[in-house]
Amino acid sequence: MLNSVCSLSIMTQIGLLILVVLGVIKAYLILTTGVCTSTKKLTGKTVIITGANTGIGKETALDLAKRGARVILACRDPKKAAIAKEDIIRESRNKNVFIRQLDLTSLKSVRKFAADILKSELRLDVLINNAGCATIEKKLTEDGLEVQMQSNHFGHFLLTNLLLGLMMKTAGTKLEVEKSVRIINVSSTAHRWIKKLNLDDLTFERDPSDNKILNIYGITKLCNVLFSKELAKKLEPFGKNITVNALHPGVVQTEFGRFLPYETLVKIASHVSSIFSKSAKEGAQTSIHLAVADEVANVTGEYFSDCKIAKTSKLAKDLELAKKLWEVSETFVKLKPEERHF
Ligand SMILES: NC(=O)c1ccc[n+]([C@@H]2O[C@H](COP(=O)([O-])OP(=O)(O)OC[C@H]3O[C@@H](n4cnc5c(N)ncnc54)[C@H](OP(=O)(O)O)[C@@H]3O)[C@@H](O)[C@H]2O)c1
Repeated sequence: MLNSVCSLSIMTQIGLLILVVLGVIKAYLILTTGVCTSTKKLTGKTVIITGANTGIGKETALDLAKRGARVILACRDPKKAAIAKEDIIRESRNKNVFIRQLDLTSLKSVRKFAADILKSELRLDVLINNAGCATIEKKLTEDGLEVQMQSNHFGHFLLTNLLLGLMMKTAGTKLEVEKSVRIINVSSTAHRWIKKLNLDDLTFERDPSDNKILNIYGITKLCNVLFSKELAKKLEPFGKNITVNALHPGVVQTEFGRFLPYETLVKIASHVSSIFSKSAKEGAQTSIHLAVADEVANVTGEYFSDCKIAKTSKLAKDLELAKKLWEVSETFVKLKPEERHF
């Protein structure tokens, strides 16, 4: 009897200890989570957010709509997009929210989307390349590209290039903060997993080690950082007020695990880890900060996490690699001479 009381009390003590440790970790995470404190309004500004029907993209769109922006939701599924649009209009009371269909796994769709935007929009102040997916299923798209590479990197690469003329037209000089145009690439700390990038095999058909779980996802997120760095460098001589930055949103509870196998396991793991992860609203803070805060108006080519500049991996700092990735990407997306700005 005495024994069982003692063991119960040890169990209780262990339980309490675990709770305290978890509480301390949670408190630390809450205190260190970056929050966008800018109250800046975006009236008169136009914003495009890819993958804005759910998760981080939807929360970012909602916040920017509340600030008065004209918000374009670039989504592949018109039904999901329509529900998101309704939610955003209801919560923000801003009717200037529009849907344009965009499937990043189709170069044709990206071209059509960009052509529609160039026809309908007079300006573009903020482009948030947010959409992304992670899967271990190795599939090629209709363009013969690997599906994650196309949705996470090539699609956004082409989109940004096609919209760059409009953004250059919108941008003022570096002194005109009010006219700043911002390109924001949602990357991930997963870019750190990658220790080598073989630019000769971006469809991952030759090297079997690329097949490892989430390796390709990590590569796509490394490409997001390298793309940001190279674009920032290419824009420098223009003296235009266009900034390009990449970011890690944190570990965020969204629908992100849905394309991974063992969906139920992923869901359970995500619930268990919910104590350590951010809500979608918290996960959107760094994107929002980069879109609105005055203090980053002239910051470009950087990588952010929790609304602060953060360190990237060594590979992500390789400017020669960034330059070569740009050249290879131009070929993969078949960028035409008249679409090139550099
Ligand atoms: N959640 C995290 O912990 C985490 C951590 C680091 C980085 N990130 C990055 O954060 C970004 C947003 O992710 P999330 O967590 O908000 O995930 P999510 O809830 O799964 O949302 C992803 C969005 O991207 C869209 N999308 C995916 N593939 C697309 C395509 N080919 N064409 C057009 N839209 C496409 C999805 O559209 P559908 O709804 O139609 O599928 C959805 O709107 C991603 O770039 C991701 O890599 C997330």
